[in-house]
Amino acid sequence: MLPEQQDILWTFTTIIFTLFSLFAFINVVQHCRAREGTNTVLWGTLFGTGLIINLLLTNHMFELTQQQQLGFISWQVLAVFLILLTWGVFFKSQNIEDQSPPLIRAAFFYTTISILLAGYTNWLPQQRSDPPPKATVVDVSDLTMEKYTAMGEEIVFGKERVAGSKAIGKGQCPLCHTFDPGDNIGRCPNLFGVEERSHTRIKEDRYLNEPIKIGEADGATGIIKGKPDEIPEEYRRADASELIGEDYLRESLMCPSCYVVKGYGKAGDTKSPMPVISKPPISLAKFELNAVLAWLQAKDTPGEFEKVTIPLPGPEDVAGGGDGGDGGGDDDGDGPVFVVGTETPQEMINKLGCPLCHTIPGVEGAVGELGPKLHEKINAPKRIKDSRYKGKAKTGREYVKESILNPNAYIVFNEEAGEPYPEGVMPQDFANKLSVNALEKLVDFISNTQPEG
Ligand code: HEC
Ligand code: HEC
Repeated sequence: MLPEQQDILWTFTTIIFTLFSLFAFINVVQHCRAREGTNTVLWGTLFGTGLIINLLLTNHMFELTQQQQLGFISWQVLAVFLILLTWGVFFKSQNIEDQSPPLIRAAFFYTTISILLAGYTNWLPQQRSDPPPKATVVDVSDLTMEKYTAMGEEIVFGKERVAGSKAIGKGQCPLCHTFDPGDNIGRCPNLFGVEERSHTRIKEDRYLNEPIKIGEADGATGIIKGKPDEIPEEYRRADASELIGEDYLRESLMCPSCYVVKGYGKAGDTKSPMPVISKPPISLAKFELNAVLAWLQAKDTPGEFEKVTIPLPGPEDVAGGGDGGDGGGDDDGDGPVFVVGTETPQEMINKLGCPLCHTIPGVEGAVGELGPKLHEKINAPKRIKDSRYKGKAKTGREYVKESILNPNAYIVFNEEAGEPYPEGVMPQDFANKLSVNALEKLVDFISNTQPEG
């Protein structure tokens, strides 16, 4: 049975049920009238109530979506069942069983079938569309390096790469990074050639001393720089004593401020605006983070995997899975991100990834630093008065909407850094990720953000 047919079936059934209870009512009243000594008021009230209940239920069925109808119809089945039962009692008490109309038998048959169908279709969608279990289930028994790096690629870009727009998976990397030679969008390093760089970086003077020295702890994460054997145990490489390229890459993801690529940091390149990938909102588990690293090591030499030093995970690595927090990414990279507007503003904002770049008052965990702090109640009206403003917005609300749909209409000036924020860093395709309702709701929320306290 196709799901599209279900709501026709239920709509038809609900009407039949009401017609049936009307028929029962008329039939009972007629019998009472034809007979002396029958309690017309009692039976009339009982079956009248049955009719009214069915009318109300039918009316409600029309307000429900197909999915809700599936659950709700069982109440009406119950009501009709009770009517049938009472009707049986009525005929029995009057000793006129033989006069029960053929329709009652037909109706009984129809109800039985419906109950069976309701049970069947209630069970169907669970089998068809239950969300997959949270933890990524990985069968490691036939995992090859090719599959493992493909898994890393999927964490980065998501399952479905959508032509023309930036595809973004659970890892969220393409929000900020580019990967192809010559493709530089702004303030985040192009990750082409990063495998090669990883070996030379660890020997650079800058790596050894800035912004903290090897052996010192990073303030934000507590990770000791340059000490792979002191990485939190659940992410540690086996037998890690000497520092190798792989460790640099892992450290880049787990402790972005341990080393800040020149020109890409804040506060004189001492602080990285990159989120910690092993913590919320992205929260990659070890085997996911390692899959991304394996992909980073392999991606510049397609089809060859000699550069990969990450071992394939064992069953103990994938047990329990990852996805500690679901704040960030889309639905684990299963498909393109889209918010419909029934979500809370916090949920929408997390799903769209705004917190990775913006600090947003009122949104827990939104401490991103790549873009301006969203204090739009104050900022938005200020922007449209700026002589450099060339956009179309007349009100603060319109400005916020424009900033989301067309970020390059106006590039905010970063007072702290004394230069404009980089153009083209904020994704240009949010229009494809929001329903009309979601956009209005998001704009309402963002337009009213202001410094806390
Ligand atoms: C919010 C933006 C943002 C996101 C999301 C992000 N990064 Fe970064 N990343 C940066 C910035 C900015 C830098 C440069 C500063 C630094 O060195 O930390 C950087 C640096 C790096 C480096 C070091 C590059 C080099 O040349 O040494 C690597 C490797 C890296 N990121 C990988 C990733 C991966 C993999 C992901 C996804 C799992 C990711 N990043 C997600 C912003 C981001
Ligand atoms: C990859 C990083 C990134 C992401 C993700 C991102 N932004 Fe931005 N955003 C920026 C940068 C950088 C700027 C400043 C440059 C500009 O004006 O385009 C900016 C500017 C803005 C502005 C203008 C702020 C002002 O004070 O004038 C608004 C509003 C805004 N973003 C909202 C959002 C919302 C809402 C989301 C999520 C739906 C989002 N951004 C996601 C990087 C990002």
